[in-house]
Amino acid sequence: MRPDVRPSETLDRAVVFLGPPGAGKGTQAKELARRFSAPHLSTGDMLREHIAQGTSLGQRAQPIMARGDLVPDSIVLRMVAHRIEQPDCSHGFVFDGFPRTVAQAQWLGVLLKQHGFKPPLVVHMVIDPALVLRRITGRRTCKVGGEIYNVFERPPKVEGRCDNDGGELEQRPDDREEIVGPRLAAYQKQTAPLAAYYRRLGRLRDIDAAKSVGEVGTSILDFVNEAR
Ligand code: AP5
Repeated sequence: MRPDVRPSETLDRAVVFLGPPGAGKGTQAKELARRFSAPHLSTGDMLREHIAQGTSLGQRAQPIMARGDLVPDSIVLRMVAHRIEQPDCSHGFVFDGFPRTVAQAQWLGVLLKQHGFKPPLVVHMVIDPALVLRRITGRRTCKVGGEIYNVFERPPKVEGRCDNDGGELEQRPDDREEIVGPRLAAYQKQTAPLAAYYRRLGRLRDIDAAKSVGEVGTSILDFVNEAR
């Protein structure tokens, strides 16, 4: 039995962020998770952690991610199943970059039911692909706490250093311009159909992700508060 660690205002369900690379899923998912003291579950971050630690899973995922393709469902599903068993997930969680295929979404539905959760709320980040190139190539992430910056749009106060903890900022290997095309293509082919899948189930809201970080965040919070 999990220990009860219920914070004052809880999500009590899963929220899914759906949208192309660079739409701002990580930026907004972290903020929403912080707002409800819920865990932020980024499958991209989990995979990068495996790569950094040199696990066998990381060794399988590394070349796939480097060319901008999706990692096989079997790897991702195992990772997610293990993660949501942890005690901090008992009152809801925020997925960032998962699910990414219809098979992953179907499997998530079953898993949530098994754990006693309602079906997920889906934040669909809508943005013109032409706008995401600048966001992706300008992104820098803190090596220590994972805070996300953008050298064009949201620079840190001190170049190359995180405002929160002074950690070094780094660029992801797949954020090179030549990898952005394959990542967008994988999104269109394998992930974009999920919007129709969740729309049919009636739990998806389109969010204009081209607006400012603050405006996007307000629209997402309104949706979650209305729907949960
Ligand atoms: P993942 O790490 O999930 O990356 P992604 O989906 O490509 O998304 P990004 O992290 O690039 O963008 P984002 O939407 O989070 O934007 P962010 O907030 O950082 O996946 C990486 C790889 O892992 C995949 O290619 C795949 O190989 C593998 N993988 C992961 N999950 C998988 C799964 N479930 N199945 C199979 N394979 C999987 O923002 C981007 C930039 O824009 C930042 O610099 C930010 O500061 C800036 N920004 C954000 N919002 C705004 C705004 N409103 N205005 C201006 N700038 C903004």
